[in-house]
Amino acid sequence: MAARRKRKAKGDPLRGRFTVEQHPALVRINRSYDVDCRMWPQDIAGSIAHAMMLGDTGIVTKAASKRMVKGLQKVAAEFADGSFEPRESDEDIHMAVERRLTELIGPDGARLHTARSRNDQVATDVRLYLASAAESIELNVQQAQRALLALVERDGAFVLPFYTHLQRAQPVVLGHGLLAYVEMLERDLQSARYELDECPLGACAGAGTSLPIDRRMTAKLLGFKRPSPNSLEAVSSRNDIARVLSGFAAIAVTLSRLGADLVLWTSSEFGFARLGDGVSTGSSIMPQKRNADGAELLRAKATRVTGALGRLFEVQRGLPMGYFKDLQEDKTALFEAEDAVEEMLEIACAMLGDISFDAARMRAAVEDPTGYLLATEAADWLVRQGVPFREAHEAVGALVSAAEAAGLGLEELPLEVFRRAHRKFDEDVYKVLSADGAVRSRRVLGGPSPAGVKRQLARWRKKLG
Ligand code: ARG
Repeated sequence: MAARRKRKAKGDPLRGRFTVEQHPALVRINRSYDVDCRMWPQDIAGSIAHAMMLGDTGIVTKAASKRMVKGLQKVAAEFADGSFEPRESDEDIHMAVERRLTELIGPDGARLHTARSRNDQVATDVRLYLASAAESIELNVQQAQRALLALVERDGAFVLPFYTHLQRAQPVVLGHGLLAYVEMLERDLQSARYELDECPLGACAGAGTSLPIDRRMTAKLLGFKRPSPNSLEAVSSRNDIARVLSGFAAIAVTLSRLGADLVLWTSSEFGFARLGDGVSTGSSIMPQKRNADGAELLRAKATRVTGALGRLFEVQRGLPMGYFKDLQEDKTALFEAEDAVEEMLEIACAMLGDISFDAARMRAAVEDPTGYLLATEAADWLVRQGVPFREAHEAVGALVSAAEAAGLGLEELPLEVFRRAHRKFDEDVYKVLSADGAVRSRRVLGGPSPAGVKRQLARWRKKLG
């Protein structure tokens, strides 16, 4: 077999020790250019820093270093204006850039890879990429937070139930529910942020180099705090990507829950909200349909992100220390997660920007007399008269049962029924049996009273503008 395979192409930079060409199946599975070409800005930035350092340390001449930097800038310009032409033989972005550089500047291009391996190169590139992806996601999460704040400003005072187990529980205001998403996204962002700290460049294949490179210089030029302290770790770990991906996954999960709420709210059963025509979908058979596909896809697309996080860990699980080609799959996970979150944020903002809430429907759900959403208010009223909460809970439970049997709301029951349930009840209890009164009285820190929501809103406006 091997004997019949084509002689190796002249000039294949990685096959000096082989006598035949690579099997096409291996070429295909090994080639990552189509995936990692999106890191061209980071790859070229890394190479420029490396070339400058090679000149500064005298490993190459100053003139050669300058020619490399200039050449790399030209390659960058080709990528930027779309004129860069990849070749089938470019295994990945690193080989593509080096190949083009050598075409442009000749023999000095062959000096760029001095004291460097693609192992430290890719680890550096991906960290640089991660920093910019994390920043872009943060900005877009803030857009979604602002879209939520705008709704809080407009409709935040509408009263609606909050749910536990999807059963109506107690009245809150819409602003409180929307601000819960703002908070949740903020929490998610805490793990989705990435600061460049340790620079892998100079770790080479994993065992460093005997050449007198200056790792501090390249680290600094690229915006890292310091060179990574262990060359093997530097090329072997992808856990910093995993850390940020876990933040992306958290954002995606939050957005999926927002999607779930939008699906419920816009259903005819709830009827709390209506999405604008531009963000609603029709059906191929039922002309009346007005679906919330965008919200449903928020739920489903989140699996891409949680799945990518799982894959990133799985790719590393069981790997001995050192670089393996397995790690090349880190980028498909990162990019897929990034793309999904960006797409999700975009549709979330679009839907939040084109939604109307039905105050009357929401209020009706709270004030449905047989929903008994104010039962806790009655129990709390008893507590204020000195009744132990458990006793109050039981008494109001009996009251609800009596009301249910009569088909009435609590507020519709005569006082004697209240007094039968607990002798401490008097006229005053009716005062707390209104949705607005209940919401207003929940002045506890972090609670849903209109005054509390106003405070939350002010804090967020100050923070996000
Ligand atoms: N494309 C490779 C990756 O993404 C670059 C590193 C290749 N290193 C190697 N020794 N083959 O991981």
